[in-house]
Amino acid sequence: MESLLKKIEEYKQEILGFAVTDEKQAEEFRIRFLGTKGLVKAIMGEMKNVAPEQKKEAGQLLNEFKQFAEGRYEELKAALGSSASSASAGIDLSLPGDPLPLGSRHPVVLMKNKIVSIFQRLGFAVAEGPEIEDDWHNFGALNLPEHHPARDMQDTFYVQQNPDWVLRTHTSNVQIREMEKGKLPIRMVMPGRVYRNETISARSHCFFHQVEGLYIDENVSFADLKQTLYFFVKEMYGADVKVRFRPSYFPFTEPSAEMDVSCFICGGSGCNICKKTGWVEILGCGMVHPNVLQNCHIDPAKYTGFAFGMGIERPAMLKYGINDIRLFSENDLRFLKQFTSAI
Ligand code: PHE
Repeated sequence: MESLLKKIEEYKQEILGFAVTDEKQAEEFRIRFLGTKGLVKAIMGEMKNVAPEQKKEAGQLLNEFKQFAEGRYEELKAALGSSASSASAGIDLSLPGDPLPLGSRHPVVLMKNKIVSIFQRLGFAVAEGPEIEDDWHNFGALNLPEHHPARDMQDTFYVQQNPDWVLRTHTSNVQIREMEKGKLPIRMVMPGRVYRNETISARSHCFFHQVEGLYIDENVSFADLKQTLYFFVKEMYGADVKVRFRPSYFPFTEPSAEMDVSCFICGGSGCNICKKTGWVEILGCGMVHPNVLQNCHIDPAKYTGFAFGMGIERPAMLKYGINDIRLFSENDLRFLKQFTSAI
């Protein structure tokens, strides 16, 4: 009887430790414990060695053990069944996953990166400034005092809560913010979004993007301005493109100019893009006005500098053949999906 109890205990431990992860192992379990030559049958056979007065008790124990082994077998089968049913519910872990569609960069960002990287190669650093700006940084410090007629050049959005705040009309506010820091020399490009109260159409929008440039040091001349922009045009539009400067007016530069490049669509012979002139306007520029330097506590007798500002949307439209500026801000995936490669 004692050796019987010991055996039952041993087999129980073995059954509890028996791990079953597939049908084959479940079958191994069945054969080892419940088969016709299995351990349960074998141990039942030992009843004949038990003393008659203990037979009743031994029979009970053996029956319990048999039920235990059978119950365990059912449990293991059920566990296998539930994982098998998840496979039959259509989950096949060996299949390759659904690919996540790759996003793409916005064409304005692609063009911005292209412009900025050309100036970075010349040693220009990158800076950004606020889009909600006070009157001083957007106008006053840039030599546009109150009631100056040139303020009308840019239709300004004012912020209702504070009459001193505007949505910046150009990125030139970042020039002021960088000069105010008092660290010279300055050689920076400043990309960002700007706002003007214009009627929205295929050709103009109430917000768009610019890249501003600023170089302040001793002995900076108009020749430096021209050479820098020549390099930019060559990198941007190719060595064959011609450049011309036209005298212009900005309150914050003196002298001021606008720069045109020969039309890269028709090569200068005249088309719709260049309005039959053979030239496309690219940017405004000039030597930083002494008043502007003074407003930022920089001595104009010691330091000079040049600045320029260019739009991003127009060159992007020309580059990609986009004929409506509104497409940039509509977030239509059919439009955005087309710009998967870097410029
Ligand atoms: N801020 C001017 C504009 O928005 C561009 C500009 C920048 C001109 C710097 C000269 C110098 O039109």
